[in-house]
Amino acid sequence: MHRPTFVPVPPFDLVVFGATGDLSQRKLFPSLLHRFLDGQIPENSRIIGAARTPMDTEAFRKVVQENQSKFAPGVCVDEAQCSEFLKHLHYVTLDAMAPASEWAALKQELANGRDNVRIFYLATAPSLFVPVAQRLGETKLATPKSRIVLEKPIGRDLASAREINDGVGAVFDEDRIFRIDHYLGKETVQNLLVLRFANMLVEPIWSRQTIDHVQITVAEEIGVEGRGDYYDKSGALRDMVQNHIMQLLCLTAAEAPNSMDADAIRTEKIKVLSALKHFDARDVVTKTVRGQYRAGLVDGKPAPSYTEEIGRPSRTETYVAIKAEIENWRWAGVPFYLRTGKRLAKRRSEIVVQFKTPPVLIFGEEELPNRLVLRLQPDEGVNLWLNMKEPGPGGLYVKAAPLNLSFADEFVVRYPDAYERLLMDVVRGNLSLFMRRDEVEAAWKWADNLLAAWDEAGGDPKPYAAGSTGPEAAANLMDRDRRTWWDPE
Ligand code: BG6
Repeated sequence: MHRPTFVPVPPFDLVVFGATGDLSQRKLFPSLLHRFLDGQIPENSRIIGAARTPMDTEAFRKVVQENQSKFAPGVCVDEAQCSEFLKHLHYVTLDAMAPASEWAALKQELANGRDNVRIFYLATAPSLFVPVAQRLGETKLATPKSRIVLEKPIGRDLASAREINDGVGAVFDEDRIFRIDHYLGKETVQNLLVLRFANMLVEPIWSRQTIDHVQITVAEEIGVEGRGDYYDKSGALRDMVQNHIMQLLCLTAAEAPNSMDADAIRTEKIKVLSALKHFDARDVVTKTVRGQYRAGLVDGKPAPSYTEEIGRPSRTETYVAIKAEIENWRWAGVPFYLRTGKRLAKRRSEIVVQFKTPPVLIFGEEELPNRLVLRLQPDEGVNLWLNMKEPGPGGLYVKAAPLNLSFADEFVVRYPDAYERLLMDVVRGNLSLFMRRDEVEAAWKWADNLLAAWDEAGGDPKPYAAGSTGPEAAANLMDRDRRTWWDPE
């Protein structure tokens, strides 16, 4: 069957606030370039960068071009085509906090008489979300057809998330608000739904009847990379768990949606979030671990400690491990062990579903539990570990061996960046891969409760060496439940 390489989108005007910032230059513009080179960006579309730095459109195009060779090296094989892409870019100097009267330049830029889909992408600090939405309302730049895109983090707790949701919601209806969690744009994350709900084999075994526990790991080699000011106020729980890991947990645990309709999916996710068990101060010791990296060796190279990297003392966690529990019929008694950290031995995001052992071990203790390992990044794929007879005449010995599906071997395609898919979904008005207001708030409710329990319990994060697998306490958390983390060599 012939499949189109992309879904056509209508012509659009995309205004990127924070256009000179890291996210825009590193992710958004390279993603738009890819979509352009594939022919997905309609001719009459315009991409308008807005930021405080005074410059004109020509200078802005140069900045984007230079950064593209840095962040999307080798993509511009055809220079002429890439210059065509740059022609879609425009720039207005704008202080997003400036009063509505100073928004004339943007207004003029947008007044082109076309009926394009209008998108405002806020690649800015969350403190700007409400003021920018208000200005967009006051200046009437926000038309009934406009959409607004908010980058994570949506606030730093439930109260601030609600303020943002209320403030932005006063100008844009909920179905015009696209809250980004870029993990949802990753191919392998979307594949979770397909694996679960397009394969009859999977669903009947996907519950407490057969599953012993689930592990979700998002390990990073990088440190805080010049984002110390933001990260130190945030920490791993707010930066990674409240959003990315919660989304992975939801997609692993949710009931089958009735359709791929955005609200059908999001409604199932929120049911998982609201069934998450809360923590008290005693649980902090038995069910959670906070860590912070010290100096060490990452990939054989010396790496500084977290506090050296940010240049001041800190008690912020750069690692967390959590035993999460979902109190519903499908998952009661099946822990979801979550862990994420910076400066760990290897970049690796994985979901491991570990099954129960057979009720009677007729082959003896060598029978290992079956494991389904979903490799999200890198080396994307799926491993299913099964017990097999080890060949040989010497007797009947059982050995665990993997069925290995490598996406790179099976589907020889370029993996698009998550933002390519998400940006085009905004233009198409498809909300399936974006977070609904109640989802964000439910995730904060759970995270706030844990933050409060940590506060009450006090104590410092446990040290771990950069380049290690994390603090020893994380191994102990599993030991206590007679389980181990899946850390293959
Ligand atoms: C971001 C976090 O949301 O996700 C970063 O703020 C983190 O701290 C990043 O490094 C990880 O994303 P990815 O796509 O590299 O796994």
